[in-house]
Amino acid sequence: MSNANKDFVEFKNKFTLRIQNNLEQIFEQYGEKSCGLIEPMKYSSLNGSKYIRSLLIFATGQALDINSKLLDQPATAIELIHSYTLIHDDLPCMDDDEIRRGVPSCHIAFGESSAILAGDALQSLAFEILSSKNHEEISDETRLNWVNYLSASIGVNGVAGGQYLDLSINSKNVELDELKKIYYLKTANLIAPCIMLPYMLDKKYPLNFDKFLQFGLTLGLSFQIKDDLLGYTSTSDVLGKTKNKDELRNQPNYVNILGVENTTELLKNNQREMREILEEIGFKNTILSEIVSYIFDRNF
Ligand code: IPE
Ligand code: IPE
Ligand code: MG
Ligand code: MG
Repeated sequence: MSNANKDFVEFKNKFTLRIQNNLEQIFEQYGEKSCGLIEPMKYSSLNGSKYIRSLLIFATGQALDINSKLLDQPATAIELIHSYTLIHDDLPCMDDDEIRRGVPSCHIAFGESSAILAGDALQSLAFEILSSKNHEEISDETRLNWVNYLSASIGVNGVAGGQYLDLSINSKNVELDELKKIYYLKTANLIAPCIMLPYMLDKKYPLNFDKFLQFGLTLGLSFQIKDDLLGYTSTSDVLGKTKNKDELRNQPNYVNILGVENTTELLKNNQREMREILEEIGFKNTILSEIVSYIFDRNF
């Protein structure tokens, strides 16, 4: 194992544990007075995610020399929102997926109404945590910027709008450009904040806003295309979710439009582009660049 690889594995183990502990603490704190809704929320947030989004947050923070304690709030918020989107994504009226992260999806384990409400409550809990005043070093303005940016990212012109469009295209006669737009909306809009929220703590913010945003959005797009590819090249057991789900639902994706070979090639080009942007923003030899490689090279 190379040194860079070793550093990445250490980072991944350390911060995965940290985000899991943070989530456990939150559920313990909010669970005390809960009517029971906390159970499906907890079930879907602590059941074997790769926690790639919060790892990106901590790695971006490290690259910008920001104390990681200032990133616990955005990291927790992003994971809660991610869990909410997956719970709703798996519902019978959406992708109708019975397995998530190798276990029954939230609505299978707890029923549909509980799953919908758990998603709702996870989203609002995320913003409660993100906006809390826990550190003197984080100004009111930054917390307002965080809430403003993240709420826009997941709303009508972000993840929710993307999911709406995703569900409206159920024939394969869709142009690649339309699909790309949907992937930006539904997936990249939850990956870009992993770069932008830490960046909002940087002294130079918003000097390189567009470059950071481009980096986050391109990474998010590639993340979803890699997810498409894995749906064909991996197995349901390894993925922890139903393989080839798009084929079963007659849903267009990059692979059924371009084929495995061309999609692999496109991802290689995107990876090269990501490396160039990393170099431009001065993050070449960082853990962040290792996570980017992991996103492209992962097998689940
Ligand atoms: C799954 O995201 C949803 C997509 C955007 C493809 P992840 O692959 O990050 O899911 P977990 O959290 O690791 O299960
Ligand atoms: C995941 O999208 C949900 C969001 C991006 C909000 P998909 O439906 O493509 O991902 P999986 O395959 O269910 O994880
Ligand atoms: Mg979906
Ligand atoms: Mg799905």
